[in-house]
Amino acid sequence: MEAHTSILAWFFCFSLIWSLLLLLVHTAAETHYHDFEIQETPVERLCNTRTIITVNGMFPGPTLEVKNGDTLVVNVVNNARYNVTIHWHGIRQMRTAWADGPEFVTQCPIRPGGSYTYRFTVEGQEGTLWWHAHSSWLRATVYGALIIYPKEHSSFPFEKPKREFPILLGEWWDANPVDVVKEASRTGATPKISDAFTINGQPGDLYKCSSQQDTVVFPVAFGETNLLRVINAALNHELFFSIAGHTMTVVGADASYTKPFSTSVLMLAPGQTTDVLVTTNQPPGRYYLAARAYASAQGVPFDNTTTTAVLVYKSGCGGCAPTKGLGIPPAFPSLPEFNDTAAATAFTGAIRSPSAVEVPEPVDVDLLFTVGLGVLDCPKGKTCGGPNGARFAASINNVSFVFPDTTSILEAHRLGAPGLFTADFPASPPVQFDYTASNVSRDLWTPVKGTKVLKLEYGSTVQLVLQGTGIVTAENHPIHIHGYDFYVVAEGFGNFDAAADAARFNLVDPPKRNTVAVPVNGWAMIRFVADNPGVWLVHCHLDVHITWGLAMAFLVEDGQGELQSLEEPPPDLPIC
Ligand code: C2O
Repeated sequence: MEAHTSILAWFFCFSLIWSLLLLLVHTAAETHYHDFEIQETPVERLCNTRTIITVNGMFPGPTLEVKNGDTLVVNVVNNARYNVTIHWHGIRQMRTAWADGPEFVTQCPIRPGGSYTYRFTVEGQEGTLWWHAHSSWLRATVYGALIIYPKEHSSFPFEKPKREFPILLGEWWDANPVDVVKEASRTGATPKISDAFTINGQPGDLYKCSSQQDTVVFPVAFGETNLLRVINAALNHELFFSIAGHTMTVVGADASYTKPFSTSVLMLAPGQTTDVLVTTNQPPGRYYLAARAYASAQGVPFDNTTTTAVLVYKSGCGGCAPTKGLGIPPAFPSLPEFNDTAAATAFTGAIRSPSAVEVPEPVDVDLLFTVGLGVLDCPKGKTCGGPNGARFAASINNVSFVFPDTTSILEAHRLGAPGLFTADFPASPPVQFDYTASNVSRDLWTPVKGTKVLKLEYGSTVQLVLQGTGIVTAENHPIHIHGYDFYVVAEGFGNFDAAADAARFNLVDPPKRNTVAVPVNGWAMIRFVADNPGVWLVHCHLDVHITWGLAMAFLVEDGQGELQSLEEPPPDLPIC
């Protein structure tokens, strides 16, 4: 009897251990290895052949797919003629700031002929992110999607889609984008405006030499629910996006799930992603997807063209008519007016976390940053193309950020390089004024240049109000924080007023994002916990503005705990 029991007990133990082992094997995180060769590739767009910089000859670049918890190892070899770095936009990079990528912030650039292997683990994020070059304006052509699936034995918090399509919205110059920004830096004027927007690298039917066979097609069948992963990879334009005849159900943004809601139009600022479900419930046929600018600045020139792709029903719906002939033009969606701030605000304001979240409280560090444009004097003996013969500039709290060029800020911080940066970035504007007034005194138009960081103690709870200004011109600024997601607790127009605006704070289900589009002539308040040590660039994701200095960096110190400090730098970190 006793022997019997113990055999049974052994058997029970054994099978328990066995199933635990099996479970471990099945849920084990994977490591994905990729090679990125930065190279020069000829492509034909808008009737011209241009040599562009690509990854592996692909435009857009390769889509990376991982599961939450997996590790990515990407060996980047630079066989092009420019310095380059790659940034994994939105990846938290816990303790691995060395792999974040912004040139001269976390690493020196990879020189032509050089290489660097980015290693990082994706943890606690699911949905759509992307990667892009973070050096000069190379990201105009060096970018791709980074898709994060749920862990094994876990699933989407929505019905499993039949098909998935990454939709990368891009911006194209019929010129070399590096030359475009060089010319603008030389003259101090606004850079040449782009010539087209693109969907997955193609401008679409409304542009010259671009119609029919080059237009991107998304094949679908009647009666499916499909997942569109929309990414705004454009350099200098916020974009409206819509599909003829189909409503979209938003289910995610910036690799965080959202409370589903339906909409006929999306607005994405550069850097942002939006995942939507689309059910093919319309008469089988062809339907345009289209994107064009949301241009929030008054009287400022912008690219007013429209990019298109086509949703094509491949099979009929049983009893109903088959796909109509190709001679009939696809249905066209209605897009908001270029300056439709109400539409933009209504969309971003509808994004919520799926359920109640723990908004970080109480606040330890209370910050107010003005974000906006300015002017700098034209150097003596030169002529400049900015306002009143000056140069365009941009700043945060009146500091126009200057990227170092001898080593990175992170290396200077960890390995020492005195004088490369100072830790005196102001926590609030040095002068208080009516920030959103249209007639801000000219005395307040000129920022100071500097490489300044703001130190944050490990684990501190940060509240940051991003306040747009009306200097030169008010504009919606998409502010991105590297290495962090944050809750967007509130947004509003005019000047932020702590007492009056407290009633608007959403401390229940605010959206979690990595890029917030600060309303034109308004503000946004965000919260996060400084739980990732390193140096983290904060900047406007309109590249023209980062070029002008609309950036700063947080220096988050190490914590005391075992897993609370930055890892050692990788041995192949590029040297300057
Ligand atoms: Cu996607 Cu520093 O940016």
